[in-house]
Amino acid sequence: MTLSVDKPLLRALHGERATRPPVWLMRQAGRYLPEYRRLRARAGSFLQLCYSPDFAVDVTLQPIRRFGFDAAILFSDILVVPHALGSDVRFVEGEGPRLTPLAGEADLGRLSSERLHEHLAPVYATLRGVARELPDEVALIGFAGAPWTLACYMVDGGGSKEFAATRTMARAAPELFARLIDLLTAAVTDYLVAQVEAGAEALQLFDSWANVLPADERRRWCIEPIGRIVRAVRKNVPDVPLIGFPRGIGPAYAEFASATGVDGLGLDTSIDPLWAAEALPPSKVPCLQGNLDPLALVAGGTSMLQSADRILEAWAGRPFVFNLGHGVLPQTEPENVALLVEHLKSRTK
Ligand code: CP3
Repeated sequence: MTLSVDKPLLRALHGERATRPPVWLMRQAGRYLPEYRRLRARAGSFLQLCYSPDFAVDVTLQPIRRFGFDAAILFSDILVVPHALGSDVRFVEGEGPRLTPLAGEADLGRLSSERLHEHLAPVYATLRGVARELPDEVALIGFAGAPWTLACYMVDGGGSKEFAATRTMARAAPELFARLIDLLTAAVTDYLVAQVEAGAEALQLFDSWANVLPADERRRWCIEPIGRIVRAVRKNVPDVPLIGFPRGIGPAYAEFASATGVDGLGLDTSIDPLWAAEALPPSKVPCLQGNLDPLALVAGGTSMLQSADRILEAWAGRPFVFNLGHGVLPQTEPENVALLVEHLKSRTK
């Protein structure tokens, strides 16, 4: 693909080794940036911010302007998909997302993908706006929540440690639950393809709650649907790399990589980079991504740089993208991010 030639992120995801690993951070736009907090106050609610292309384009570009990352990630949220299907999604200040829990057949029957693209049109407008303004060498990442993680928020009605309601439904009413997962799998596929048509050059699937399932259910509800999405998206847009981020699944990352066929594998904080270098070689997955502890970024200074160096050293012989093991925390000092990026660029030139 000619485009990838000039973009370090796309080269890495296609399995090319570089003199310097590309870097971006999950949640690189967010509350730790004063310019984000100012814009967020003007936009009103968080969802209004997601659905206002002018604001969302600006927020997407804020961390690019400030730090010079190698990729911009669309500013939106994974919960816009349930919202587009008809769930009522609210973000409660200081508490996170709240949805009316999906409890049974009747609730599922009220969901529909008929107006998916109409509802998500502002997201596509944001991508087109960012694509117009992005520096030539910076790649644009689109994303979606994986079906399992979206189902967790829809059935439990918000965040949770255990997602007991969702896991109970998956066991007690597996046919009903499979219909929900299938609906989400189809919607996420269509959404990702439309994001590429609007300008996304790489895609990330967030399976933030893959960690709560035992192996057999993880295979059925996380790995299998993501594999279907990867294959269907590739059929429509063959050259666009896909990154999977099944958070917290430990050694099952190896199974995840081979069964889904993702181009990039997002590793969470719990994974030892040295283990990953051994267990996930380029023959198993073209590119690794991760996995600095977001708290290392909060602490900053030498301890942060030493942890970053451990990753650089462990993965020096293979393609990878430098990132965190989870999102940037709101209490992070922006100066620490600047120091990290400077270090990565100078150390590895
Ligand atoms: O990474 C980026 O910069 C792009 C934007 C992005 C957001 N959310 C913006 C956001 C992305 C990729 C997400 C993904 C997302 N959203 C995930 C998967 C990644 C992960 O963190 O595991 C999940 C689980 C969500 C759902 C969600 N959205 C929660 C649980 C919360 C509340 C927690 C929190 O940090 O406030 C949100 C809100 C949210 N999404 C904010 C941002 C910047 C904060 C909203 C605010 O301004 O108050």
